[in-house]
Amino acid sequence: MPGLWDLQWMGICDSTMGLNSTLLVMALLLSGAAAALKRRAYFNETADLPCQFTNPRNISLSELVVFWQDQEKLVLYELYLGKEKPDNVDPKYVSRTSFDRENWILHLHSIQIKDQGSYQCFIHHKRPQGLVPIYQKDCDLSVFANFSQPDIRQISNITGRSDINLTCSSVQGYPEPKEMYFLHETENLTTKHVVLMQKSQDNDTELYNVSISFSFLVPHDTNNVSVICVLQPEPPETELHSKPFSIGPKKSVSPKNDKNYILQIVGLILLPLILVCWIVLFLIKLRRQKRQPKRSHEGHECETVRVEGEKSQQSEERVEDQALERSDEEPSTL
Ligand SMILES: *[C@@H]1O[C@H](CO)[C@@H](O)[C@H](O)[C@H]1NC(C)=O
Ligand SMILES: *[C@@H]1O[C@H](CO)[C@@H](O)[C@H](O)[C@H]1NC(C)=O
Ligand SMILES: *[C@@H]1O[C@H](CO)[C@@H](O)[C@H](O)[C@H]1NC(C)=O
Ligand SMILES: *[C@@H]1O[C@H](CO)[C@@H](O)[C@H](O)[C@H]1NC(C)=O
Ligand SMILES: *[C@@H]1O[C@H](CO)[C@@H](O)[C@H](O)[C@H]1NC(C)=O
Ligand SMILES: *[C@@H]1O[C@H](CO)[C@@H](O)[C@H](O)[C@H]1NC(C)=O
Ligand SMILES: *[C@@H]1O[C@H](CO)[C@@H](O)[C@H](O)[C@H]1NC(C)=O
Ligand SMILES: *[C@@H]1O[C@H](CO)[C@@H](O)[C@H](O)[C@H]1NC(C)=O
Repeated sequence: MPGLWDLQWMGICDSTMGLNSTLLVMALLLSGAAAALKRRAYFNETADLPCQFTNPRNISLSELVVFWQDQEKLVLYELYLGKEKPDNVDPKYVSRTSFDRENWILHLHSIQIKDQGSYQCFIHHKRPQGLVPIYQKDCDLSVFANFSQPDIRQISNITGRSDINLTCSSVQGYPEPKEMYFLHETENLTTKHVVLMQKSQDNDTELYNVSISFSFLVPHDTNNVSVICVLQPEPPETELHSKPFSIGPKKSVSPKNDKNYILQIVGLILLPLILVCWIVLFLIKLRRQKRQPKRSHEGHECETVRVEGEKSQQSEERVEDQALERSDEEPSTL
């Protein structure tokens, strides 16, 4: 589809307009084109494409033709003598625009990465001799998508290894970031590890996913070490920082572990103490058990001895009696 601009420019040349006024219009248009406006928009949001027309002669919209073209001369929007005219609008821009008549700004909704480029706002005045271009403004649109907050994850398990492999990733951003790195913070030192960035781009949305990986040595001492991942998008976007990731000996990394550590120490001291107490108590009990049967036995022995003693006394007496009796009765048996 040829742009309206081409058609209407030809119309102007064919018109009876004088050379001077044609040159004047051309100069005006060129000046508008030279000072292109810069506009930024975020993915999936709305871009503002200003015309910055001041309308110094207060021409009514019913006498004007206002339209926007992209760099491929496809029409985004057209206001023809005060009425919206969708005939010339390219399918890709249908129902994506709204015009702010007050401020002469065209809003382009659902911004895609593909939408970046230059746009032109044209204003023509309908005069008896035809449409006369009276104003043009160019606008360069750049599109950004904010990367997600970088996220650090541990890839390999720490068991039996002296290093730990960390991967940091950030998704759905545009344009390609400038730099991505790890900041390795020890007690006194902050080391910057710039690693080759892995990137993948979505075919459809053109958004980037990026990641970096690095192997860190796990410190042997008890000092906690933290790693932060930093993503520097293209300026003017600001740096993005991940949450700090702590690496270090498993004990005493977090307060919870500290508690466990204390519990362990308490356990280590208390457990042998309890064991020793138990053994001592057991030994005492054992000794008592050994002694008690002896004592009772001894008592029994004493009793038996006593009894036996009594018995023997009695028997002695009896013997004596018997002897007396015997001596009385049978002295021959002695
Ligand atoms: C775009 O924005 C809409 C709402 O504003 C949301 O529902 C949708 O998920 C967004 N799409 C993407 C790709 O971010
Ligand atoms: C412009 O014209 C409209 C009528 O078409 C009028 O109401 C308005 O006051 C005018 N503004 C200026 C600044 O002349
Ligand atoms: C780490 O080891 C645990 C079990 O020891 C396992 O469940 C987990 O999936 C492992 N993680 C990785 C990233 O290999
Ligand atoms: C940190 O610095 C202090 C004094 O500046 C020093 O005593 C200590 O050994 C350093 N620690 C490490 C891990 O380098
Ligand atoms: C990027 O990451 C998002 C979310 O994690 C995922 O849905 C998408 O498929 C990824 N795109 C590419 C090109 O890897
Ligand atoms: C860390 O893990 C990633 C993903 O599994 C792998 O590509 C990379 O080679 C590993 N790096 C090191 C130093 O082990
Ligand atoms: C280590 O932990 C202490 C508190 O537990 C904290 O103040 C300090 O910043 C941490 N150091 C590092 C390098 O993470
Ligand atoms: C993107 O990040 C910038 C700050 O860097 C912020 O001003 C802007 O609102 C963010 N845009 C979106 C769509 O999140």
